[in-house]
Amino acid sequence: MMTHDIEEILVSKEDIEAICKSLGDQITSDYKNKKPLLIGLLKGCIPFMSDLVKHIDLYVDMEYLSVSSYHGGIASTGDVKIKKDSDISFKDRDVIIVEDIVDTANTITTMLELFKNRGALSVKVVTLLDKPGGRLKPYTPDYIGTTIPNKFVVGYGLDYNELYRNLPYVGILKKSVYTNKES
Ligand code: PRP
Repeated sequence: MMTHDIEEILVSKEDIEAICKSLGDQITSDYKNKKPLLIGLLKGCIPFMSDLVKHIDLYVDMEYLSVSSYHGGIASTGDVKIKKDSDISFKDRDVIIVEDIVDTANTITTMLELFKNRGALSVKVVTLLDKPGGRLKPYTPDYIGTTIPNKFVVGYGLDYNELYRNLPYVGILKKSVYTNKES
């Protein structure tokens, strides 16, 4: 069973629901009378983006870019690849990047630069999870669901070797799962 691979639940289904409501309310209030462009970074953003938008009471555009820096493993390679780009214009748009996690900040700092270069009026970041202990670059997200310790986590969009994205919570993966496979 997939759930047997989880050592500890860090952010429960109920926590996630409360976080989505709180962040959605904040964004609704901060972007009053605006029409933000929400950009989800695939694949990890899918459950979070889907739950978050239900709590944003604004007209929004939704778009997705596929980027990857982990390439399946447990550590960022630092090499952020755009696997599927967008063909819509970001010019003069209020962009909100939707992330499942900010860890080293390699991905998000690369994306911020990209969107600014493409003429966005403003670019902010909402992340479900912030892991400041993992940073390789200084960066603080604008909207943070919750801060987590420097452990490898999976679930609710986050994967190990493309698995565990469908867990309804965020949990710490047992070390035995990846040490057996990677040693
Ligand atoms: C994960 C996650 C973030 C990024 C954060 O994506 O979804 O986009 O890593 O890590 P960083 O701050 O160290 O850059 P990943 O590259 O694993 O692709 P995925 O979303 O398809 O799993």
